Amino acid sequence: MPVATMVSSRPLAQPPGLALQQQLDAMRAILLTPRSSSSSTAASSSRTPAASVPPARGASPLLADAVSWLSAEVCRRVGIAINGSVRAKLEKIAGAYPPDKLGPWMERLAGLDSNDPEWLSFVEMLTVHETYFMRDPGQFDFVRRQAMARVIAERKGQDRPVLRLWSAACSTGEEAYSLAMLAVDTLAAAGEAVIDAAGHVRTLRPWTIEVVGSDLSRQAIRTAQAAVYHEFGLGPFRNLPQQCWRFFERTGKGDSSIEGGTSWQVHPDIRRFVRFQQFNLLGDKPPLEQADIVFCRNVLIYFDAGGRRRVFKLIHTLLNPGGFAVFGPTDVPDDPNLFRAHWGPSTVIYQKV
Ligand SMILES: C[S@@+](CC[C@H](N)C(=O)[O-])C[C@H]1O[C@@H](n2cnc3c(N)ncnc32)[C@H](O)[C@@H]1O
Repeated sequence: MPVATMVSSRPLAQPPGLALQQQLDAMRAILLTPRSSSSSTAASSSRTPAASVPPARGASPLLADAVSWLSAEVCRRVGIAINGSVRAKLEKIAGAYPPDKLGPWMERLAGLDSNDPEWLSFVEMLTVHETYFMRDPGQFDFVRRQAMARVIAERKGQDRPVLRLWSAACSTGEEAYSLAMLAVDTLAAAGEAVIDAAGHVRTLRPWTIEVVGSDLSRQAIRTAQAAVYHEFGLGPFRNLPQQCWRFFERTGKGDSSIEGGTSWQVHPDIRRFVRFQQFNLLGDKPPLEQADIVFCRNVLIYFDAGGRRRVFKLIHTLLNPGGFAVFGPTDVPDDPNLFRAHWGPSTVIYQKV
């Protein structure tokens, strides 16, 4: 069987009719057999997202084949396209296996469900979790004025108005909590909530705020649920506006210049609006059915074009009529049937068409 079959975008589904065990055996045989000139990786990888990044110089043919297969599998299952840094991580992970263990390890991976903890632990080694509170303040401010205030004004007077917000790749939770803080501030400005100096929040009946934070990484979700953040270096508070400190309680004292310095927990009055759930953006069952505003920032940049399109469609489907989507600066939804752009000072947000 040529390597091309092994690294096709759906390795377990092809060739049709081949039993799983046979495919796995074939894959193992390929991985454990040094490449001949006729089973060229270049030919096979031209069919995969791994094609754009050449293997590191000096990588053995066996390792290069393994990395090609892993790259295609990661892209298929979680959307992450393979750039130089992801390939380097894959080479490090796969390269840690002795040649006779590499094939069996990949067989195991191939047989795992995408929600299996072992598969997720593997993928978590490839992802980037950089985030902080109120990341891109200009964008948050524009969302407050152009999107949130508008949704609140439209709902005001309804029997049971609900503001539903989704942070769709929330990492360790800072973005989801920032959205909750923005929501209470915007409601307060509209006379629909009261916040005292100690950060105690009372939404005025009958308003409800529901913020959902989701991420592929279970580890990140656990951190988000704990809601405890440490103040050190370029940490999660680097952008926090002064007035938002009232939404935190100090939980630990220490030297703020070193890791593990002062730590703060998000105030229960904010936490109660936010729930977290593990969710793969290419998965089947989103963690909510409808939303008014969706943040999906700094994640699609790692996806291939097909993955990005799927996520744009998912968000479009979930948004309420006239709802808003917020993406990273380089993620432009190119289908004019889905979103209309609203430009602000050096930022853009998208409204469902
Ligand atoms: C750089 S963080 C972005 C966090 C936050 N949105 C922000 O802009 O600050 C990217 C996050 O995307 C998550 N991620 C990557 N692929 C994903 C997928 N297929 N589904 C859901 N989350 C994913 C990673 O686990 C990581 O926590």
